[in-house]
Amino acid sequence: MKCTTSYGKEIIMRKSGANVIVCPAFVDVHVHLREPGRPDKETIRTGSLAAASAGYTCICPMPNLDPVPDCRENLEQELELIRRDACIQVLPYASITMGRKGLETVDFESLKDSVVAFSDDGSGVQDSAVMLRAMESAKALDCILAAHCEDNRYGDSPESEWKQIERDLELAARTGCAYHVCHISTARSVEAIRQAKRSGVDVSCETAPHYLLLTQNEIRDEGRFKMNPPLRMPDDRDALIQGLLDGTIDMIATDHAPHTAAEKSLGLRGSANGIVGLETSFPVLYTYLVRKGVITLERLVELMSTAPRKRFRLGEAPMDTATMDLDAVWTIDSSRFRSMGHSTPFDGWEVYGRCLETRYKGKTVYAFDNE
Ligand code: DOR
Ligand code: ZN
Ligand code: ZN
Repeated sequence: MKCTTSYGKEIIMRKSGANVIVCPAFVDVHVHLREPGRPDKETIRTGSLAAASAGYTCICPMPNLDPVPDCRENLEQELELIRRDACIQVLPYASITMGRKGLETVDFESLKDSVVAFSDDGSGVQDSAVMLRAMESAKALDCILAAHCEDNRYGDSPESEWKQIERDLELAARTGCAYHVCHISTARSVEAIRQAKRSGVDVSCETAPHYLLLTQNEIRDEGRFKMNPPLRMPDDRDALIQGLLDGTIDMIATDHAPHTAAEKSLGLRGSANGIVGLETSFPVLYTYLVRKGVITLERLVELMSTAPRKRFRLGEAPMDTATMDLDAVWTIDSSRFRSMGHSTPFDGWEVYGRCLETRYKGKTVYAFDNE
């Protein structure tokens, strides 16, 4: 199968001589920055600095915060911190339901102008009547719903993800709402979304680097392999890659989810769900998908930059660029991350691709200084 779109192509410039490219800066539509609420895990400042150092100029933090951005007043707290501390564009999500409790939908109208979209990420919306109401509001107000799909009746099994996706796809078909599926991890999820796209549903989806490069077989009894959804089977990973190739999967987000070292030190069972991803995404994907010939460099840039911009209506940003040295080889060392989170299954991996410079609105927000 081939790549259906490739408009990343014309905008990647190669610098003559070295294997260095200047490409559209990356956009991550799924991160967790922990402020307000848990600044001991990550702050707007550390998260945005980590992102900038990896080539990102736009990140979208999820609303599992304290307080939850479910009303104007709560959202304002988060926006104030963003205005004060962010070094790149930080566009938050509002929650779909009050307190992310899955019962009562938020007032979309009062929040929509300041958020990228709506999501209850961290949990699935269990009640389909609530999801239907949310989709009706989203449709009426032209907002995007981004769903963490997890049906609690099925634990963290594959069914738990794809059954809720199938439910939502029917609701999305019925309402016509713009619907985005977060971090898909199973083969059945890919197939359900593929069929829905064929029948004209306004659906998009993301997956994350760890679901593309790792499986259950690589899991060790360490917190850095613990995330939700969990790593799946080789067949699932292969289906995700197929989905990247045929356009079923629209974009790659990291689900960057920092926790304290203590919360990640309790093995596979006891540790908190979530791994960091901002500072490893391009290098691991470039090394293990592009260099291995699975996808093209142009497709990777599209998946990490132009495609999320388009779907989430972020506008073009010709002055936002990432300069990447594709020949630089280095070993991932999580102790050196700018993020306050240090838990990653990619620790110790040898990778190609280093961010030399990130420009946001034409201004340098990060430059590699060989430290
Ligand atoms: O791994 C995860 N981490 N999955 C989630 O659903 C939530 C996230 C977090 O906030 O840490
Ligand atoms: Zn999630
Ligand atoms: Zn998440």
